[in-house]
Amino acid sequence: MKGVLLAGGSGSRLLPLTKVTNKHLLPVGKYPMIYHPLYRFKQAGIVQVLIVTGREHMGGVVSLLGSGGELGMDLTYRVQDEAGGIAQAVGLAENFVGGDRFLTLLGDNLFEDDLSGEAAAFIAQSEKARILLKEVAEPRRFGVAVFDGEGNLTGVEEKPAEPRSNYAVTGAYFYTPDVFAVIRSLKPSGRGEYEISDVNDHYIAQRQMTYGVLQGAWQDAGTFESYPRANELARDWELDF
Ligand code: G1P
Repeated sequence: MKGVLLAGGSGSRLLPLTKVTNKHLLPVGKYPMIYHPLYRFKQAGIVQVLIVTGREHMGGVVSLLGSGGELGMDLTYRVQDEAGGIAQAVGLAENFVGGDRFLTLLGDNLFEDDLSGEAAAFIAQSEKARILLKEVAEPRRFGVAVFDGEGNLTGVEEKPAEPRSNYAVTGAYFYTPDVFAVIRSLKPSGRGEYEISDVNDHYIAQRQMTYGVLQGAWQDAGTFESYPRANELARDWELDF
């Protein structure tokens, strides 16, 4: 399995911290933020990882990580010229992914769980996609899962004003290369971005989506509210690459 790590975006919600650097290079615990998702890839046995980031800060990201050799990883890079959404960034991974299944992680997401079991579940399933959910107190900041009366996943809604469950869609998405055709068929959302929730909704409608629920803590780090919480969560984490 391959990995795609999304580390683009303008980081506007963390200005001025992100004025001259990439959000994913800011400290979280004892490490630059981007080390955390990289470590979850490594732990799951995924060492071939493509890092997608914006043109302004690619230099800093490459200076930090290089080939990945020091971390026992094999890193490749692609530039996302403008911030056009998560689905657009995933679309840039088509050549890198080739015919393999892959896991995409958002670079500002911290997972306490080892994702090895989830990766194994995705390899074993016949469906084309798998997402990881986490029960949260304030779901409206996230993609939110919708269930029918029998607990079947029926859709995902991006930042709904009135969430229909407390299950957030975390920034961990498993896909097959079929996803690139789905991304090409998307239309931009109201905010002008290609939304990953539209990709996931497509697979749910096709009955090609499974999901797992995270047991450990999960925290995003992209706002002034969440960034200190991420630092608190990861304060004592030792990433033993
Ligand atoms: C993105 C996704 C959202 C997901 C979240 C997880 O939102 O669009 O569905 O729940 O990441 O961190 P963003 O925080 O980039 O606005």
